[in-house]
Amino acid sequence: MARILTGIQSSGTPHLGNALGAIEPGIELSQKKDAESFFFIADLHSLTSLKDREKRQESVNAVAAAWLALGFDANRNFFYRQSDIPAVCELNWYLNCFTPFPMLANAHSFKDKSDRLANVNAGLFTYPVLMAADILLYDADFVPVGKDQQQHLEMTRDIAGALNRSVGAEILKLPESVIREDVKTVPGTDGQKMSKSYGNTIDIFSPAKLLKKQVMGIITDSKGMDEPKDPDSCNVFALYSLLASADGIGEMRENYITPGYGYGHAKKELLNLINEKYGAAREKYDLLTAKPQLIEEQLVAGAEKVRPIANEVLGRVKNALGY
Ligand code: ADP
Ligand code: TRP
Repeated sequence: MARILTGIQSSGTPHLGNALGAIEPGIELSQKKDAESFFFIADLHSLTSLKDREKRQESVNAVAAAWLALGFDANRNFFYRQSDIPAVCELNWYLNCFTPFPMLANAHSFKDKSDRLANVNAGLFTYPVLMAADILLYDADFVPVGKDQQQHLEMTRDIAGALNRSVGAEILKLPESVIREDVKTVPGTDGQKMSKSYGNTIDIFSPAKLLKKQVMGIITDSKGMDEPKDPDSCNVFALYSLLASADGIGEMRENYITPGYGYGHAKKELLNLINEKYGAAREKYDLLTAKPQLIEEQLVAGAEKVRPIANEVLGRVKNALGY
């Protein structure tokens, strides 16, 4: 049975971009019959940038609730919190000693983050080694990630290969990345890529009023009601197209070129579609976040399930290294 593994950072509440770009494709992958999925919340990684304990804990709950609310079956799969398996930190150390310094110094994401962030700590620098430990600790076969994480996957393979060569045995399994080429970049309310860091998100799990405000606030050009409009350069239409059926998209295209149809109408249609698609998930999300112990139970049970696997792999590594 193929083992699929991916980590999700706990840094805020998932938005429409995260749902369409990562959560829904992940859930779809986890429904394959001949695969088992290991999805975990990377709460140790989030400490590199998020120091506030309450915010971090809230985000663990928000991220877990989003996955469960959107339909991830935690019972059939493996769903856990990174920090519940401290073996990952021990493996991280062993891997550190097989990681060439220049490899980390040349990582795109480190360069990008160290240019942007005020606090450049060593955790940020060794981030890819902990990520390698996350993956190698569970003998993962496939790791679905966005394009920005591809280099981290190459590093994981390099580090595992270096350790294997050093001990002269295939102790660690080399994983393959699965890059989501077909997933479109979801635009935000200002037309740039939707991202927490740009403040342009559509928060599908926020209260109805706020969600409405975000959708009605999507930026468009200033064409009046009676002018025909260009769907292909409109952000509202782009978002609508990501959610609607082919027929729905066709109808909306007609509306755009027909005078008398305004952006306000299109935004209302978009809001209806979002509510239709995510209404039930939002109810479930509210239920879960109102009772964080329900989430905690799932995560604790998940940790129990993965611990023996982690210990077995760590044991193999320690044995090979002579500890
Ligand atoms: P953010 O940019 O809001 O901080 P993250 O970097 O935490 O989001 O992204 C988490 C996951 O969601 C990643 O796998 C990423 O590829 C996906 N994702 C984030 N934003 C988008 C988007 N606008 N369109 C498609 N996928 C996205
Ligand atoms: N670095 C990943 C991200 O920012 C999250 C992550 C942590 C991860 N550990 C992982 C992804 C292991 C895949 C496998 O999106």
